[in-house]
Amino acid sequence: MVADDAEEAQRRELHQYLKGRYLFQKQCAICHGTAGRGDGPWAAELSDKPRNFRTGAFKFRSTAFGTLPTEDDVRRTIRSGISGTAMPFFKDLSEDDVDALIVFIKSMSRNWEKEELQGKPVDLPEVPSWFHDPAGTTAHQKKGAETFATHCAVCHGAEGNGDGPGASGLVDVWEEVSKPAMLSAPHHKSGDKPTDLYPYYRDGDERNSHDRLR
Ligand code: HEC
Ligand code: HEC
Repeated sequence: MVADDAEEAQRRELHQYLKGRYLFQKQCAICHGTAGRGDGPWAAELSDKPRNFRTGAFKFRSTAFGTLPTEDDVRRTIRSGISGTAMPFFKDLSEDDVDALIVFIKSMSRNWEKEELQGKPVDLPEVPSWFHDPAGTTAHQKKGAETFATHCAVCHGAEGNGDGPGASGLVDVWEEVSKPAMLSAPHHKSGDKPTDLYPYYRDGDERNSHDRLR
């Protein structure tokens, strides 16, 4: 019985891998490349480069800097896309399709087998009591504006338009050009909730330079 179960699990895994590989070639390779190296035929034209999955490093995580995203993080990226980039959202894929794509993505880097790189969502702080109180938010906005001017405007620009004096010449961990986010835009790559952005403030990230802010 046990052997049968193991065999069944293996068969299922292989089935998902093959399905994921097929879907990846059909829907993703044009940007991410047939072998997932981020070098598909469309990549050259894109200013934000498609991820190279062979590096085993990921930007969009609820987990700590330097660890892998959770499967839910990857699922969310596939389902929601990445605002302001070529990465589309895939609403028409079934849950099983997305699971299969995740199996295939995980097959592209050995990092996924390393115990020490497995990530878990970072602890989020309690929402502070002043957060929903207009007087409290005004006071904190003021403080936030000062912190922003001191630490962030150099890259993100005084108005958050991504055009500060230090904005050019930055590269990310994939050695690709990394432009500071336009924080004034209505949507953010990481998501629109404060909790979507929190892991980056806390830990820094792969996008360059945020690790210097701790
Ligand atoms: C038209 C181009 C395009 C297509 C098609 C595309 N992607 Fe992407 N993808 C991108 C770009 C560009 C990024 C990087 C955006 C960034 O780093 O800001 C990206 C990023 C990602 C990420 C985030 C990796 C990280 O660092 O967290 C995942 C996961 C992903 N793509 C999966 C897929 C899958 C799965 C498919 C197919 C179902 C797909 N993509 C199809 C362009 C594309
Ligand atoms: C040295 C330059 C630099 C400094 C200083 C800097 N950033 Fe960034 N920031 C970047 C870059 C580059 C990105 C990456 C954008 C991307 O992935 O496309 C980014 C992205 C972000 C994002 C993610 C936005 C999204 O769309 O998901 C947030 C939030 C952010 N920065 C906030 C801050 C805050 C707050 C500070 C100050 C405490 C700060 N940054 C300081 C360069 C910088």
